[in-house]
Amino acid sequence: MSIIDLRQILAVAIKAGVDSINPETALTADEIAEMFEYPPDDKMGDIALPCFKFSKTLRKAPPVIASELSASLNGAEFVEEAQVAGGYLNIFIDRDAFTKAQTEEVIAKGEKYGRLTIGEGKTMVIDYSSPNVAKPFHIGHLGTTVIGHSIKMLHEFAGYKCVGVNHLGDWGTQFGKLIVAYRKWGNREEIENGGIDALVALYVKFHNEAENDPSLEDQARAEFTALESGKEENLELWKWFIDISIEEYKKTYAQLGIEFDSYAGESFYYDKCGPVLEKLDAAGITKIDQGATIVDLSEFNMPPCLVLKSDGSTIYATRDIAAALYRKETYDFDKCIYVTSAGQSLHFAQWFKVVELMGYEWYNKLSHVPYGTVSIDGAKLATRTGNVVLLKDLFAQATEKVLGIMNEKNPDLANKEATAEAVGVGAIVFHYLSNNRIKDINFKLDDVLKFDGNTGPYAQYTYARSSSLLEKAGGVPENADFKNCTEEEFQLAKTLSKFPEAVAAALDSGEPMMITRYILDVCTAFNRFYHECQILSCNEENIRARRIALTSAVHTVLGSAFGLICMKKTEKI
Ligand code: ARG
Repeated sequence: MSIIDLRQILAVAIKAGVDSINPETALTADEIAEMFEYPPDDKMGDIALPCFKFSKTLRKAPPVIASELSASLNGAEFVEEAQVAGGYLNIFIDRDAFTKAQTEEVIAKGEKYGRLTIGEGKTMVIDYSSPNVAKPFHIGHLGTTVIGHSIKMLHEFAGYKCVGVNHLGDWGTQFGKLIVAYRKWGNREEIENGGIDALVALYVKFHNEAENDPSLEDQARAEFTALESGKEENLELWKWFIDISIEEYKKTYAQLGIEFDSYAGESFYYDKCGPVLEKLDAAGITKIDQGATIVDLSEFNMPPCLVLKSDGSTIYATRDIAAALYRKETYDFDKCIYVTSAGQSLHFAQWFKVVELMGYEWYNKLSHVPYGTVSIDGAKLATRTGNVVLLKDLFAQATEKVLGIMNEKNPDLANKEATAEAVGVGAIVFHYLSNNRIKDINFKLDDVLKFDGNTGPYAQYTYARSSSLLEKAGGVPENADFKNCTEEEFQLAKTLSKFPEAVAAALDSGEPMMITRYILDVCTAFNRFYHECQILSCNEENIRARRIALTSAVHTVLGSAFGLICMKKTEKI
C-alpha cells in the first residue's frame, strides 16, 4: 500500500462510475488516478477528485458529476466516506484499515518500499562533480556533487541501472604550468604530504612568478605540448598529480557516501577527438573561421561552437562530444545527464545541438541540469589558497562545531567523531538541497547546524529517536492491532504512504528538494505522534505493538530518504 496504490483503487471504482454515466468516455483508470489531489486542509478530506474535467464528456455540471460518482465509491476498499463539495468529491480514508495496510507494507518491503519500476531495463549515465585537477575543490562544486549524486540515487531507486562518471578536468594547459612549477620549486615529499593543497600552492606560485617572468608561460606551453606528444617524464608527473588528487577527492566523497563508477576524465578523450572531427566534417557542418574550426549555430540563435583551435588543439566542447559518443557506444544509455553550474548552460546547449546536427537521433537523451551559486558567510572559512572555501574545510568546520555541541550534550556517546561528521556534513547537504536548485544561496553555518528548525540535524535527530525506540522495544512485535487508530497515527501512515510520490516528483523535476521537504513532513508527523501517543509506555499490548511497528516504518522510510540525498544515517546522537 502506498498512496499511489490507493489512487489506483479509487480510480478503478471511479472509472466504473464514469462508464455507467457514459460508456463512450475514453478515460482510463490510470488517467483518473492522476487526477486526484490533496485538499489543502485534512478536515476537508484525505484525497479529492476534481470533477471539472469530466463535465465535457459527461455533459453535466461538475457538482452533479461529483454527486453521481460518489455512489461508485460506496463500499470501495479504504473508503470511509465521500462528500460532495462544489465540483469536488472529497474522500475520507478508512483510518484503521489504511494505517494497518500502510504500516504492514513498509515492514514487509523494508528498503524496497518506495522504489519505482519506471527505470527497469533502462540505463542512465550521470556526469557530475568533475573537479579540475590542480585547482581547488571548493564549495562551487558542492552543487554538482550532491545534486548529481541525489539524481543518481533517485534513478537507482526508480529501477535504472546507473553509471556515475566523474569527468575530471585532467587535461589542459594547467598541467604544463604545474610541471614547470614542480620542477622549479616543488619536491616529491612536499606533494606527497600536502596533497592537493601543495599542488594548488605550486599552481598559485606559478601565476605569481609568471607576472614578473612571462617566459614561464612559454615554458608551460612547451611542457604541455611535450605531454600531449607523450613525453614519458611528463606523463609520469601528470599521472601522479591526478592520482594524488583523486585520492583526496575520494576522502570528501566518502564523507558523502559517494562512489563513482568511472573516473574517465577529459584526458581519456584526447585520442577520441580526431574521429569526432572527421565525423563533423563528414556531416558537413564545420567551417574554418580565422584558422579555427567551428560549427555555426547562428540559425539556432547561439554563438558558434568552437571544436578545434587555430593551433590545432581540441577544447572542452570537442571532448564533451567525444565523451557523449563514447558513452552512447559503451553504455547505450537511455538518458545521459550533466550536472554543472548554470554558467555552463550555453556550452551544453551548443554541443547538444552539434550532436543533433551530426545526425545522432539520440541527441534528445542528453540533458543538462543546472544549479545556482552558493556562498557562505564568515571569513573564518576562507583558506590559505585565497578566498575560496574548500569543501573539505567546510565539512571539517561543520564537524568540529557539531562535536562541540555533542561534547556538551552527550559526552559519552560512542563513535562521537563519526557521528559528528555524519551530522555536520549532513547538515550542509540537507540545507543545500532544501532549495530550488537554480536559486543562488548563501548560508550561515550556525543556522544550518541548529538541532531545531527545518535542518539536517533535526532530521538526523528524529531518525535517531526512532532508532532508539526500536532498540528499547527489542524488535517489532507481531500482535499489532489497528483498531481505533488515533489522528496522529493515521496522519503518520498517510505521510509514509506519500514516499513513492515524493520520489517520482523529485525524479521528474530533478529537484532533490522534493525529498528534503518530504523528510521534514515525516519528521513533523513522527514527532507529533511521539508526543501525543504513548509508545513503549502504552499498557495495551496490541496498541503498543502497532506503535512500534509504525516507528519501525518511519525508521525505514527516513533511512531510505536520507540515502537519496547523500545524508548518512545516525542511529544514535
Ligand atoms: N570540470 C568542469 C568544471 O569544473 C565540469 C565538467 C562537467 N562535465 C562535462 N562533461 N563537461 O567546470
